[in-house]
Amino acid sequence: MSFIIAPSILSANFAKLGEEVNNVIASGADWVHFDVMDNHYVPNLTIGPLVCEALRPVTEAVIDVHLMVKPVDRIAPDFAKAGADIITFHPEASEHIDRTLGLIRDSGCKAGLVFNPATPLHYMDHVMDRLDVVLLMSVNPGFGGQKFIPETLNKLKLARARIDEYQARSGRSIRLEVDGGVKTDNIAEIARAGADAFVAGSAVFGAGKDSDPHRYDSIIAALRAELEKA
Ligand code: DX5
Ligand code: ZN
Repeated sequence: MSFIIAPSILSANFAKLGEEVNNVIASGADWVHFDVMDNHYVPNLTIGPLVCEALRPVTEAVIDVHLMVKPVDRIAPDFAKAGADIITFHPEASEHIDRTLGLIRDSGCKAGLVFNPATPLHYMDHVMDRLDVVLLMSVNPGFGGQKFIPETLNKLKLARARIDEYQARSGRSIRLEVDGGVKTDNIAEIARAGADAFVAGSAVFGAGKDSDPHRYDSIIAALRAELEKA
């Protein structure tokens, strides 16, 4: 499987969101990571289905919706209608995890579970057939620009082993994504621990000068160069 770079638009310039998305994809990024926060499950408030719908015609890139909301079931299908490709949620935020995964898939999207730093991996064990993505948080969810929690490297290895064992048995692949504090100086090590999709917010959108449409070229290239080393 190839490596996926998924810039989190949480750190983009919201006044120019369409332009930001176009520029970062033109610079070689793969997915658009779309962070949804509700000031309830996490202590911050961001963007909803309307913004997803507005971005959909702007890009053909995969829109990777990360729901940090509770409850999940009422709002998840709205993101499918708004053009999301992948919808992930936190198991603690859903009363019925299997049902929520089914709801997302029935609405035509790929589905995934998100694990907070202290959330045990066993939540995935009995729903592997319904998972397209496993996302490990390497910071506590709610804010961009936090420091990568090193224990995530051990957890990635454990998640990788579970996913590889499942793939050998089922023939189905599941993406292993990591989110929080990913930078050029740690992305290679994170890849070696087993991740194959990398969310980076502040590292990407903090790069370059605001007026330059190519300002993300060098940061995306630098992240890819580091991944080559892994
Ligand atoms: C945090 C979000 C992340 C965040 C990543 O709750 O889920 O996607 O924006 O930002 P950085 O890369 O700055 O840690
Ligand atoms: Zn995220």
